Amino acid sequence: MMLLHLVLSGCIYSACALNNGLALTPPMGWLSWERYRCETDCKAFPDSCINENLYKAMADRMAADGYKEAGYEYVHVDDCWAAQQRDANGKLQADPQRFPSGMQALADYLHERGLKLGIYTDIGYATCEKLPGTEFFMQSDANTFAEWGVDLVKTDGCNAEPKEMDVSYPVFGFYLNKTGRPMVYCCSWAAAQVVHGIQPNYASVREHCNVWRNYDDVQDSWDSVTNILKFYGENKQNFANFSGPGGFSDPDQLLLGDYGLSIYQQKAQFGMWAMLASPLFMSVDLRTIDPKAKAILLNKNVIAINQDPLGAQGIMLYGLPESLSVWRKPLAVPGSYAIAFLNQDNQGRAMPFEIHLGDIGLTNANGYNVTDVFDNLPRGQFKPTSSLGVLIDPTCIVILKAVPL
Ligand SMILES: *[C@@H]1O[C@H](CO)[C@@H](O)[C@H](O)[C@H]1NC(C)=O
Ligand SMILES: *[C@@H]1O[C@H](CO)[C@@H](O)[C@H](O)[C@H]1NC(C)=O
Ligand SMILES: *[C@@H]1O[C@H](CO)[C@@H](O)[C@H](O)[C@H]1NC(C)=O
Repeated sequence: MMLLHLVLSGCIYSACALNNGLALTPPMGWLSWERYRCETDCKAFPDSCINENLYKAMADRMAADGYKEAGYEYVHVDDCWAAQQRDANGKLQADPQRFPSGMQALADYLHERGLKLGIYTDIGYATCEKLPGTEFFMQSDANTFAEWGVDLVKTDGCNAEPKEMDVSYPVFGFYLNKTGRPMVYCCSWAAAQVVHGIQPNYASVREHCNVWRNYDDVQDSWDSVTNILKFYGENKQNFANFSGPGGFSDPDQLLLGDYGLSIYQQKAQFGMWAMLASPLFMSVDLRTIDPKAKAILLNKNVIAINQDPLGAQGIMLYGLPESLSVWRKPLAVPGSYAIAFLNQDNQGRAMPFEIHLGDIGLTNANGYNVTDVFDNLPRGQFKPTSSLGVLIDPTCIVILKAVPL
């Protein structure tokens, strides 16, 4: 009872979540950065530059093609939306050529379709792409975002002193709160400190942010994905402990439908991001996406693992480098778990693997009802001591759900 109460109030271990009622499960949506970067030449690249048409086009697809129903709701603008200069009153403004209708109109467009607007800024004096940053303008920028109808604020960590972030991120969060408009607060605080060899105070990060990056940006390659998973698997300082309703670790965007991953690797990334209770932000052209990638993004059983109300971040139980790792994520139904088998081996054959549930901490004497999550196929009933086999394609994943009988 005590534990249940603590979880519902956003407190886990000694850390309580940011109390704005948001991100009770990992936020889902679409974010421009990984695919569209900072392309501002709309003459040369009319369909892939950062302008209001890009976000409207993605919103249209999200509303029409099943993404919204599946839970993807934020249309998230990244860097390079802003004009080079603030206006005469020091207020942030969108680039007038590329966002002629303005950010408030974009928010209205999304809200009319049942979607939400995410925006980007930086805790330093400039963004990573050298546009105006929020340092010295925290109250003003928070008010501007609230006035425009923004629903989520990603606050990057470029051009700022990492040591000062223990103060600067909470101060900006204070001004976001003072606007009275609930806005998901995404921070790069922990990631910026890790990069500079500073141990983040994760309890404080959880108390002040709804979402926090811990590590490097994802790039469009399998190496990048496995590098991020290695960091999460090592779980230094047990940072996985701090994910839960109200605040989640963010291993960065999904690459599904882009250039760098095979369809097997896309399945692996999606499955692992579900296991990690990661925010699920697609970064792909939804107008031309490969139907196979789309089907993975819309797999409701995998999404249910990600969105499980307990909000626990899965941890790696054991891993053999460049081969097989086994991960476990507790689920809300008491005693139940998702178990992932990630095969990083690149030999051209599927890897057979056998476990006993008891060996990975699933010890219910009556046994478990086991389901394959991606295919939604019953695997049958297994005692903690009976052997359970899986076959994992190269650079791919199998996820099982085990519910106690
Ligand atoms: C602001 O913080 C207070 C105290 O934690 C909380 O009750 C309130 O919901 C927050 N409001 C917003 C808009 O975040
Ligand atoms: C964090 O989780 C680990 C298991 O990964 C556990 O052993 C440890 O006690 C937890 N830390 C805290 C502070 O509760
Ligand atoms: C076991 O799970 C399957 C779905 O995989 C479900 O159809 C079945 O009813 C469950 N059986 C029990 C005994 O809970």
